Amino acid sequence: MKKIVSLRDVSFSYEQDLILDNINLEINEGDYLGIVGPNGSGKTTLLKLMLNILQPLKGKIELFGQDIQKFKDWHKIGYVAQKAVSFNLGFPATVEEVVAANLSTGLGLFKPLKKNHLEKIVKALQVVKMQDYRKRLIGNLSGGQQQRVFIARAIVNSPEIIFLDEPTMGIDLNSQTEFYELMEKLNKEMKITIVMISHDIGVITEKVNRLVCVGNKKVVVHDNNSKLPADEILTELYGEKMKILIHYH
Ligand SMILES: Nc1ncnc2c1ncn2[C@@H]1O[C@H](COP(=O)(O)OP(=O)(O)OP(=O)(O)O)[C@@H](O)[C@H]1O
Ligand SMILES: [Mg+2]
Repeated sequence: MKKIVSLRDVSFSYEQDLILDNINLEINEGDYLGIVGPNGSGKTTLLKLMLNILQPLKGKIELFGQDIQKFKDWHKIGYVAQKAVSFNLGFPATVEEVVAANLSTGLGLFKPLKKNHLEKIVKALQVVKMQDYRKRLIGNLSGGQQQRVFIARAIVNSPEIIFLDEPTMGIDLNSQTEFYELMEKLNKEMKITIVMISHDIGVITEKVNRLVCVGNKKVVVHDNNSKLPADEILTELYGEKMKILIHYH
């Protein structure tokens, strides 16, 4: 199995505060991996380390078998940041421009699009069923529609892995169902490895094949052979059992 991400003995602190302590984690090709944990436990920090937005205090991170500091194939990676939706709503960009700005060719906003660029954009928008909204202003779309545009933006370069930070926040139940169907399609049909931070422990334990629990500066990985026990994971993360369970892992 191909390793896409590997963290070995990784620690991180923002100045004095140690946030992650000696983390070991591997993400394999084809994984549909969930990351859960309380507010402030370091989930976004963990994602940012894997994207080289932050650098570890110690330890080694590899992407596609290569040291992250030397890694250049960023087109293989897509990212939907926390609160991507609701960010810059007043910004006068069209759907097409928002997606185009992430093209690996480094095309900036408001530049004329070449034919092959446009094809990639339309393809990505078709995957998320937003092709009819291409010329609309992003700020005038609903939260669920914006979310789909940000997913199109993350997949426009045909990545092998996408990272999503709380993508279902503020999305109604119908849109959430559609969202999880879309993730299933990306993972199973388009063979994209998915790493998703979520607070919907009940839902995510049903969907993913592996779950990473972040808490007490550590991570615990659960492989989902049949079904992950959402109740136990909730207790592990938020209840009294947390320290004991982490101790035994
Ligand atoms: N730029 C920063 N400088 C200093 N401390 C930070 C910074 N960003 C985050 N932190 C702190 O690091 C800790 C982990 O933050 P992080 O954003 O990774 O948590 P999270 O698990 O993603 O939380 P949430 O579920 O609320 O999104 C928190 O205590 C946070 O206040
Ligand atoms: Mg976060």
